[in-house]
Amino acid sequence: MSNPVSPTAFYCGGVRMADAENPVPVVGDRHAATLMGDDGRRIFAAFERFASQNGSNVTRHRILDDMLRDRFKGQPLRLTVLLGAGLDSRPFRLGSGRWVELDEAPIIERKERLLPASTCPMSLTRIAIDFSADSLEAKLAPFATTQRMSIVMEGVLMYLDEPTIRRTCGVLMKLFPNHTLLCDVMSEKFFRQYGQEIHAEIERLGARFTWTPKDPAALFTSLGYREAARVSIALTASEYRAIPARAWTMRWFRRTLREGYCVHAFKVD
Ligand SMILES: C[S@@+](CC[C@H](N)C(=O)[O-])C[C@H]1O[C@@H](n2cnc3c(N)ncnc32)[C@H](O)[C@@H]1O
Repeated sequence: MSNPVSPTAFYCGGVRMADAENPVPVVGDRHAATLMGDDGRRIFAAFERFASQNGSNVTRHRILDDMLRDRFKGQPLRLTVLLGAGLDSRPFRLGSGRWVELDEAPIIERKERLLPASTCPMSLTRIAIDFSADSLEAKLAPFATTQRMSIVMEGVLMYLDEPTIRRTCGVLMKLFPNHTLLCDVMSEKFFRQYGQEIHAEIERLGARFTWTPKDPAALFTSLGYREAARVSIALTASEYRAIPARAWTMRWFRRTLREGYCVHAFKVD
């Protein structure tokens, strides 16, 4: 794969595949195993030992599922763009929405082979993009709308840099002036304290975290977003018992763990 970040999609897909095998899954992504295949499973094998990180990762997906379900209430066909979709199967699972997925060609081609868009119960368009060479604006222009809509960037921002994030948000604001950006942001302190071990494994895949800011919301408010929601990934994971930490210790202590890695909803102000 030409984009070094793309293989990390198999880490997230693997986490959801393992979750779906649990008697009481957090997400229950029944398509994850199909999309992983043997090659994906080989990549995920190196990550299976990270119980807490994997529990947090699948909880992140559940938090975003719930935010999207909420946003479909009264608007069941709301446009939703998955930017850096990886092996996300939400268009097949959530029963609502008109969906656009963008990712690098090998990911899109794989999804078309294993879970074709034509079999999706909802409207789904998949678009291959070379993030380093193609114009995001040109790829998304056919879907431009002033209606309220959602953009999901899950597990993506930490691999970008600030100029790229600024540019990406500029394009999104131009094409979708009423969008809500749903994304996860990891703080520098969280990354230093809790991210090192798994990051070493991510580096072995060829990718690395390049954006872990001091104040996760600051860049977005400076770009003209208002923070509409923020959900702690670790606290929610402890409530689902997806990680070993107790929820009460998380609420009263462990501030960096609780606050340093959250899912945010940013609305254009
Ligand atoms: C860790 S995976 C997350 C995949 C998926 N969102 C999920 O949570 O399962 C990161 C994804 O971001 C994609 N990506 C790489 N560069 C990107 C960019 N500049 N903008 C958006 N996504 C990008 C990769 O190809 C990869 O599929």
